[in-house]
Amino acid sequence: MNAPHKSDLLTDAYGRTIKSLRISVTDRCNLNCIYCHNEGSKGTAGEMSVGTISNIVATAVDFGVSRLKISGGEPLLRKDMEDILVSLPPLKDVSMTTNGVLLRERALSLKNAGLGRVNISLDSLNEANYQYITKCRNGVFEKVIEGIRAAVDVGLTPVKLNMVLLKDINESEIEDMLSFVREFQGKVILQLIQLMDFRDVDSYHVDVDEIEKELELKAGCVQVRELHHRKKYLIDGAEVELVKPVDNTEFCANCNRLRVTADGKLRPCLLVNDDLVDVSNAPVKDMPSLFRLAVSRRVPYYREQKEI
Ligand code: 5AD
Repeated sequence: MNAPHKSDLLTDAYGRTIKSLRISVTDRCNLNCIYCHNEGSKGTAGEMSVGTISNIVATAVDFGVSRLKISGGEPLLRKDMEDILVSLPPLKDVSMTTNGVLLRERALSLKNAGLGRVNISLDSLNEANYQYITKCRNGVFEKVIEGIRAAVDVGLTPVKLNMVLLKDINESEIEDMLSFVREFQGKVILQLIQLMDFRDVDSYHVDVDEIEKELELKAGCVQVRELHHRKKYLIDGAEVELVKPVDNTEFCANCNRLRVTADGKLRPCLLVNDDLVDVSNAPVKDMPSLFRLAVSRRVPYYREQKEI
């Protein structure tokens, strides 16, 4: 396959070229986390067919997009997840964000269907705490831990553990999480995520700058990733990333993703709701122009305020 011509790339008015597509395949979820943003969606939306998903991804690939993240809700609630994966055009990176509850049984079939790696939400290693955060019943936490181990075993790696930092709930657990990550000898990476305000979560906000300072002190090595200019720390063999989106102009300036909602709408920004472009029923031939329209609506949510 030839690389697309430069004019066929999806570049917005701020010079940001789309390299990654993030597609939600369902709004349904089997957990009910106290802070969840539901990918900005209100839920109860219809779901796209395998064919629609594969057409959307194929259009993105024609525009030079090489990375795909599958998200939800909980994507593994779709029984046809493997069919979705098999239907996709070749991509450099296919990953999925899952809560891991249903992962153990599916890890191998997902790998065989073409999934490259997974991000697993894990906000606590303390079962009672995990239950408090996710509102789940007994036994679920264990399944998630088994899901993580299965993902590592079948090679859905590097596995990233998403830990949303929550004041007085899990902020004291970072060390425990680092020890857990070390067990996997480089195959598991910890992602510490700053809480974004989608629900009434004010009381859970943590001072992430303090945490950043602590990580910097402890780390033997710090790297900066291109995407969102995220920092990566290596602490006694455990790799940690800090994701700090809130009020972060650099985060938005470097954003190279386009999102797709579970009901088939292109979403230029997670934080904006009124700029969606419906592609759910679009004939394949119309998709490129709809993609261009969505990209033309991309505005960095956090940006330097220009003097007028
Ligand atoms: N703030 C930050 N991250 C969130 N996620 C969901 N809701 C929020 C929020 N309010 C992210 C977490 C989770 C993934 C599914 O979505 O990283 O692991």
